[in-house]
Amino acid sequence: MTDDVLLVHGGTPLEGEIRVRGAKNLVPKAMVAALLGDEPSRLRNVPDIRDVRVVRGLLQLHGVTVGPGEEAGELVLDPSHVESANVADIDAHAGSSRIPILFCGPLLHRLGHAFIPGLGGCDIGGRPIDFHFEVLRQFGATIEKRPEGQYLEAPQRLRGTKIRLPYPSVGATEQVLLTAVLAEGVTELANAAVEPEIEDLICVLQKMGAIISMDTDRTIRITGVDRLGGFNHRALPDRLESASWASAALATKGDVYVRGASQREMMTFLNTFRRVGGAFEVDDAGIRFWHPGGPLNAIALETDVHPGFQTDWQQPLVVALTQASGLSIVHETVYESRLGFTSALNQMGAHIQLYSECLGGTPCRFGRRNFLHSAVVSGPTKLQGANLVIPDLRGGFSYLIAALAAQGTSHVHGIDLINRGYENFMDKLRALGAHVELPAPVES
Ligand code: EPU
Repeated sequence: MTDDVLLVHGGTPLEGEIRVRGAKNLVPKAMVAALLGDEPSRLRNVPDIRDVRVVRGLLQLHGVTVGPGEEAGELVLDPSHVESANVADIDAHAGSSRIPILFCGPLLHRLGHAFIPGLGGCDIGGRPIDFHFEVLRQFGATIEKRPEGQYLEAPQRLRGTKIRLPYPSVGATEQVLLTAVLAEGVTELANAAVEPEIEDLICVLQKMGAIISMDTDRTIRITGVDRLGGFNHRALPDRLESASWASAALATKGDVYVRGASQREMMTFLNTFRRVGGAFEVDDAGIRFWHPGGPLNAIALETDVHPGFQTDWQQPLVVALTQASGLSIVHETVYESRLGFTSALNQMGAHIQLYSECLGGTPCRFGRRNFLHSAVVSGPTKLQGANLVIPDLRGGFSYLIAALAAQGTSHVHGIDLINRGYENFMDKLRALGAHVELPAPVES
């Protein structure tokens, strides 16, 4: 398909300004939260990305009206007439996103049952959903696997419970939050994820009337209430997209101002960016990222749950590390297969060796399971244009960065996947002076 291929002519530094809006990993979840209320909600700073469109479609199938608000990027969600959706219609969304799993709690509260299609999302590891179903069972839901998907029922009102997650999963923490707020009694969640997007979801739920407190030891306590209202909320900015553009600026020796980027949620990234040798300047409206000239530094890097170095920052930064002098060590501890994208970088001229051992830091869950989850990147290496097939969202953006940093032309296949999480990325690339083109369609 020609319209899913991008020609990237590399070698030009990215320079200029782009803007990021609300976080992909918060906005769709805040939209699901609107389902819990009995009044309309207003969500602002909403990016036009595929995950938002998928959730919008699923909400509409369940009787929620979703329309534009007064300002650009505002959605008004009215859940006054929530109803059961046709299974075949829901199933049309199978494989499109991971967010449908978060409809379970809200639908169980509103309708007493829920049907969840097969999930999508990036192929960066096994991505099981066992924690989700285990916590839903603890709340009192029954789950039946049917050929077309999972069917859940709440024979009576769901009850608050005591949960300890085996790992601080972002999705499972959100599952607990979205279920516990209307459950009867108190829920105590230990070993919760505390990513900024989760805090923002808690802010959304608090605006709706929920009672949620967070302790410093990753414990979240939720006191269930009988009803929730609507919310008016501006989504926190996308710190993952911001870091992607920062890495693109560094790898292409460029200078990019990311309007909307926020320092608070990016502190760990900014420290690492500075250690590599990148320069940045923060002001009230955004962050400027640039390559200050001279060699970049090799570093040791370990991904972790917040407040550690976010796994989604890893892939774009690895491209910049191919330009650093010396040996960098990267230990991926969140997703077992998130370094698979590096084989294409090697085809372009990078020197990246993968290991199954936990290199350079703390032993992690993957150490004894033979996953290639550590990398040694030796640089600097000259990258050459290549034929690239996008494997996942962040890996895909990383290929774009590599193609932009490389000499010559790359054919990047599967670029549509990037629309899942990067708003108007083609316009942004062009605004930054990237030489990219969609090949002309072949006449038939
Ligand atoms: N896990 C399980 N069982 C579960 C759930 C998770 O074993 O039931 C494991 C996963 O396999 C993984 C780890 O726990 O090894 C962490 O997964 P988590 O549940 O935290 O991830 P997620 O909720 O599926 C979200 C983001 C990801 C981001 C991670 C980590 C969304 C839609 N996705 O995924 O974002 O990397 O949290 O912060 O919010 C991306 O934006 O490209 C992306 C992949």
